[in-house]
Amino acid sequence: MKGVILAGGLGTRLYPLTKVMNKHLLPVYDKPMIFYPIETLITAGIRDILIVTGGNHAGDFLRLIGNGRDFGLQHVNYTYQEGEGGIAEALGLARYFCDQEKVVVILGDNIIEKNIVQAVKEFAGQPSGAKLLLKEVEDPERFGVAELEGPRIKKIVEKPKAPKSNLAVIGIYFYDPQVFEFIDSLEPSERGELEITDVNNMYLERSVLTYGVLEGWWTDAGTFDSLLRAGRLVAQTGANNL
Ligand code: DAU
Repeated sequence: MKGVILAGGLGTRLYPLTKVMNKHLLPVYDKPMIFYPIETLITAGIRDILIVTGGNHAGDFLRLIGNGRDFGLQHVNYTYQEGEGGIAEALGLARYFCDQEKVVVILGDNIIEKNIVQAVKEFAGQPSGAKLLLKEVEDPERFGVAELEGPRIKKIVEKPKAPKSNLAVIGIYFYDPQVFEFIDSLEPSERGELEITDVNNMYLERSVLTYGVLEGWWTDAGTFDSLLRAGRLVAQTGANNL
């Protein structure tokens, strides 16, 4: 299974921190933010990794991560997203890298306490389709939210004003190669982005979407409050624990 880390976008919610620094290189406790998703993949045995970056300081990723030797990797792949056309657009740039293999996708600002070992194992055994990870949160209106009907996901709504559950869809997604056909058929949302939530709903409509509930804490780090929270959580427990 391949691994893709999405670290494009301009990080405008964190301005002026992101004026001369890419958001994913900002410190989260004792490491640059991007180290955490890299370690999430490596901890789960994913070693063939593509980093999608973007913005004005993309070259800094190369200086920081290089060929991945500090992580025990022999090679890291990079590509560049122009502008910030959305998470699904960024993933679309990974089509040739994925080359008909399954892929686990992680957002560059998502950090977890534990690991995705079990989820990777489950998705490896899933014949086709996609898999999501959900987590209960106090502020679901900030995220993609899964509406459940019994044990099944009925619908996923991006940043709902009146959320029907407190189950956020976290930024770690598992896809089969059909994801790229779905991305091709997307239209930009009201915020002008190709939305990953629309992709997930396409899998849902075809009844090939599974999910798990993540153990341990999960946070994004893309706002001042969540960046602070991420630092505090990592200081307390560490991240990517086995
Ligand atoms: O963190 C989980 C949430 O991430 C999900 O619950 C939402 O469904 C999903 O839409 C996303 O929400 P955000 O609005 O918080 O995503 P944001 O625009 O902050 O982007 C998150 C990361 O995705 C960012 O750190 C880098 C990557 N990204 C984002 C955009 C818009 C790209 O690589 N390219 C992009 O164009």
